[in-house]
Order: sequence, then structure tokens, then C-alpha cells
Amino acid sequence: MRMVDLIQKKKNGGVLIQEEIDFIVRGYTNGDIPDYQMSALLMAIYFNGMNKRETAELTLAYVNSGDTVDLSEVTGIKVDKHSTGGVGDKVSLIVLPLVACVGVPVAKMSGRGLGHTGGTIDKLESIEGFNIELSREQFIFNVNHYRMAIVGQSANLTPADKKIYALRDVTATVDSIPLIASSVMSKKIASGAECIVLDVKVGSGAFVKSIDEARDLANTMVEIGKSLNRETIAVITDMSQPLGHEIGNANEVKEAIEVLKGQGALDITIVSLTIASYMAVLGGVFSDFDTAYEELKAIIKSGKAIDKLKQLVEIQGGNSQIIDNPDQLPQAKNHIEIKALSNGYVNSIEAESIGISAMLLGAGRKTKEDKIDYSAGITLFKKVGDKVNIGNTLCVLHTNRDNIKEVEIMAFNAFTIRDVEPKQITYIYDVIR
Ligand code: URA
Repeated sequence: MRMVDLIQKKKNGGVLIQEEIDFIVRGYTNGDIPDYQMSALLMAIYFNGMNKRETAELTLAYVNSGDTVDLSEVTGIKVDKHSTGGVGDKVSLIVLPLVACVGVPVAKMSGRGLGHTGGTIDKLESIEGFNIELSREQFIFNVNHYRMAIVGQSANLTPADKKIYALRDVTATVDSIPLIASSVMSKKIASGAECIVLDVKVGSGAFVKSIDEARDLANTMVEIGKSLNRETIAVITDMSQPLGHEIGNANEVKEAIEVLKGQGALDITIVSLTIASYMAVLGGVFSDFDTAYEELKAIIKSGKAIDKLKQLVEIQGGNSQIIDNPDQLPQAKNHIEIKALSNGYVNSIEAESIGISAMLLGAGRKTKEDKIDYSAGITLFKKVGDKVNIGNTLCVLHTNRDNIKEVEIMAFNAFTIRDVEPKQITYIYDVIR
């Protein structure tokens, strides 16, 4: 088999067979196929797509490129969730203890953030002492005993996806539905999930910007799940503005605590309850979504959900005093208020610009080697639909850096204020099963 013939085939709109997909993925991962040929193939896929069978086979080739996690010793139906990535997305921090409260085992492997979206592991590491490197025995014990554990993704999980993702990032081929779908689903399947709930983000801060594209991506991932025997539900949620009010690592832990205490903002509370409810239904605890939603709401109200987060922090070695006293989380030395210069209503908040601003304040990494400042981030005081008067604080930037004039301008420009009230934002657009 020659790579050039496969590039030609895809360029002409052909359909790759399994042996060809395996050849490509194996060859690129072990270095036999050079970047320039893989780049050409990725661009051909970008323009000509992949059918359902090709996408499922690409997913499986990614899974088979590295280690898979054996969760057979864990009792119960193993349910995982994944978000396609957004700004202020702290949903995993909330749903993990919430779903564990009703007995669904969550054995979570999470990634770090890169670019303008944050990673769950970085957020948890803002809690002093929190250990994200459990031994396999401890991981399984915690899931069986407490119904929850979270660790960083092992280096050898879907290495083909890691290498190809890095190439997509620099060849403008990230936003291809079959490539995103196979990348996301391979990680979930390799980490041992039996059922998967996907949070497909749509809007200015997400990979997909339109509802139609989001539906297409959701359908593709649900189909992959079906063909690989993993029951999958995809929830399409809003990312036209950041989720909740806090962006940054310690900031997002603080907001997750508020949600689990029943004091969270409406958007993040609704999205988290929705994702958690589908996880609880797939985990076999509730027969329908509405019952799950009401029960989980009641669990938050009862205080059990926040106690469970406290337990998670304790069993993974973290300082659990932050639950009662979030001021013990890392604090930045500078807090800069960004104020409105006009009257009106917030019509939009560019999520990606806010994500990039937070990264430039120290909350994220530009390159993998960058060190994160856990205290850095942004607190939004106004969200879309809020009324604003001149001089009102739109957001506060938290940072230990100096000379951040450019970030102040970027954060200010992220807000659009107009005289007219905007249309109300829908938090959940669709559910695909
Ligand atoms: N998230 C992933 O894991 N992979 C993609 O390709 C895009 C988002």
C-alpha cells in the first residue's frame, strides 16, 4: 500500500477501507508516514468527509493505537461524559460528585487545557494537595467504594489521536466533523466507558459555530457509539457566551462549589443538571430524564452533592477546607475592573476572546510547556441580556502579571452593548440519542 495512492483516493472522493485506515493510522503513529503526506490526507478528509463506517473505523484505529483501560473490576454501568470544549466549562467538576451521589460509577480520565479552553485536571490541581495520579488499584478502589475517581489521561491513551490532533491544529483541519467525532469518541472508548454523554458545545467559543453543524457532529458521535456498542447521548448546549460567571482554574472550582451548594448561576446549573441526569439514566438509576433531573436537584438542595465533592477532594489528598472556605483557593494579587462606557443591554460576550484573555492573564497555556497560574482568571459581572449603565463593572480580571493593557482591551471588546434587549439565550438546543 502507498500513502500517495490513499491521498489520491480521498482527494477524488473515494471511500477508504479498514485496512487502508489502519495502515494510515499505524504508519503515521510510528513515524513511517511523514507529516506532509498526513497533512495532505487530512485536508482531503476535511473537504470530502468520511462516511459512517470510515469514521467508526478511524475511531477504532485510534483506540487500538495505545493502551485501553480495563474497568471490568468496577461494579455497575460505567458512564462517562465529554465536552467538545468551551470557556468557563466546569461541568465535569459538578457532575462527577453529583452522579456519584446516586450510585453511578464515574471513573474519569481528564485532560489538561491548551489554548483558550481549560482542562478539568488543571482546575482540580488548583486545590492544594489534589492528586491526579492514582495507582490503578487506588483508582478502581475509589470508584467501587465512593463511586468516583478522577485522574489525568495516561500518556499512552490514543497516541494516534494525540499526534494527529497536533498536526490538525497547525494545518487548519481541526473543524472537520469526522475528525472531531473520532478524536472525542476514541478517548472515551479507550478509557473504558460503557455509556457516554456528550456535551456538544455550539457558538462563538466552540469548535462548531452553528446548530446544524453541532447536530451533524452529535449525530456522527452517537452513530459511532452505536456501531461500537456504547450507548451514547449527545446534548447540544450553548457556548455563545462563557458558561457561568467564572473563567480560570481556582475561579471555576469556586463556581462549581456554588452550583453544588445550590447557589449557582442558571446557565451552568441547568447544563450540569441536564448532563448529570442523562448520565444517571444511562447508568440505570432512573428510568426517565425528568425524574432524574428532579432527584438530582433535590440532592443539591439536601447538601449531599457538596458533601460528595468534599469527599472527592479528601480521598484524592486535597485540602477540603476550600469547600467551606473557597478563599483558601489561590488568589491573584491584581484585580482589574473592566467598566462599561455606554448604557444598554449586553447583546453578546465573545467567549473565545474571554478564553484567550484568561489565558493571557496566566490561566492557560500557549504551549504545552507553559506553567499555569491557578489564581488567574476572569469573573463576569454581566452576562448576555443584563442591563448595563455607564461605569458598571462588566468583568474583573484576576492576575499576577503586570502590563496587561492589551488584555484589558480584548476583554472590553468581548462585550457588545446595544440599546435593544437581545433575544433570550437557550441553554440546551437539542438532545440526540
Ligand atoms: N476535542 C477533542 O478531543 N478532539 C477534537 O478533535 C476536538 C475537540
